[in-house]
Amino acid sequence: VSQFAAAGSPIRVEAGLSAALEAQLPPGTHRVAVITDSNVGPLHAAAVCDGLRQADPVLLTMPAGEAHKTRETWAALSDQLLDAGLGRDSLIVALGGGVVGDVAGFVAATYLRGIPVIQVPTSLVAMIDAAIGGKTGLDVPAGKNLVGAFHPPTLVAIDPPLLATLPADELRSGLAEAIKHGVIRDAAYFASLAEQGALLTQPSAAGSAAMQALIERSVAIKCAVVSADPREAGERKILNFGHTLGHAIEAESAYALRHGEAVAIGMVLEAALGEALGVTESGTAAAIAALLSRVGLPTSTGFDADRLLARTRSDKKKAAGRVEYALPAGIGHFAQWSRAVPDADVLAVLAAYRG
Ligand SMILES: NC(=O)c1ccc[n+]([C@@H]2O[C@H](COP(=O)([O-])OP(=O)(O)OC[C@H]3O[C@@H](n4cnc5c(N)ncnc54)[C@H](O)[C@@H]3O)[C@@H](O)[C@H]2O)c1
Ligand SMILES: [Zn+2]
Repeated sequence: VSQFAAAGSPIRVEAGLSAALEAQLPPGTHRVAVITDSNVGPLHAAAVCDGLRQADPVLLTMPAGEAHKTRETWAALSDQLLDAGLGRDSLIVALGGGVVGDVAGFVAATYLRGIPVIQVPTSLVAMIDAAIGGKTGLDVPAGKNLVGAFHPPTLVAIDPPLLATLPADELRSGLAEAIKHGVIRDAAYFASLAEQGALLTQPSAAGSAAMQALIERSVAIKCAVVSADPREAGERKILNFGHTLGHAIEAESAYALRHGEAVAIGMVLEAALGEALGVTESGTAAAIAALLSRVGLPTSTGFDADRLLARTRSDKKKAAGRVEYALPAGIGHFAQWSRAVPDADVLAVLAAYRG
């Protein structure tokens, strides 16, 4: 058992934990609703509900996929909780990837003005990123994640063997965030990921000691960063490395690229941008690209440079009209997390790396 904490939430990493949640319920919890999606539910909900028998769990299933991370899904789930008569002494278990975590977390944040949530992440993205830090939210027509709340979970229960059923492309998408953690904070971690390379994407990796170690290292890094800056006033922005251009690439692909795939390309481009600006040690972009290739992630894009630049500008979360980049000093060290970069520099890098 390994324990961590972020923004006041305990995080446990332990095989089998998802099937033994009863012992983790806060005193005074009378009812539990397990919220999952249509892929994860049939695979894992029975074991989770079995482990919560005394709390008479209600199982609610939303359709899988980012397209359902909406107000409509939030409304339907909230109404189902009201119909089931769950009161303020209830708790929500969010069982799924980042989509379920964000939606179920936001349902918990708003139901009867807020009830506790236990996050049980089932994708690698959710285990090392989405479930940690207390952000919840929905996508709306104006953009992704624009409606939401900070609602730190009572517990993040990470059960690594749940990854055994995760499709390989989804696992790879999570590895992009693990690689990001190495770049922003930990050169030794980056080196160990490079050493293990493609082994991490094998189906047998799910329950392995190497995967458990990866999850623990990434969780520790995200916790350290989030705890230093829970509301993202400054340093937490280093987690956005690869994401300014990554989000633009993800949107430009019309979401045909997974988030982690787009962020992989974004990390190479943003490291190259840092090199061009003299912020980042030369060779950093090449080292990141080499590791990404080893685990089967993309490193370049054929998208039009002007269109990508325009996408970075329309990102609703940018501060006062500035497009900001989080730029590493090199592998394992951070330099600047809110650097405004002139368009000409961005365009030059996009042109040089157009694959
Ligand atoms: N709140 C945050 O801080 C934060 C951080 C990062 C990402 N996110 C959000 O997380 C989402 C991406 O998360 P994701 O990549 O987990 O997406 P996801 O929840 O859509 O899961 C990916 C796919 O894998 C399936 N799946 C998940 N676990 C499985 C398992 N064990 N076995 C079989 N199938 C499984 C899902 O049903 C889905 O089809 C995005 O909406 C993103 O905005 C939030
Ligand atoms: Zn990300």
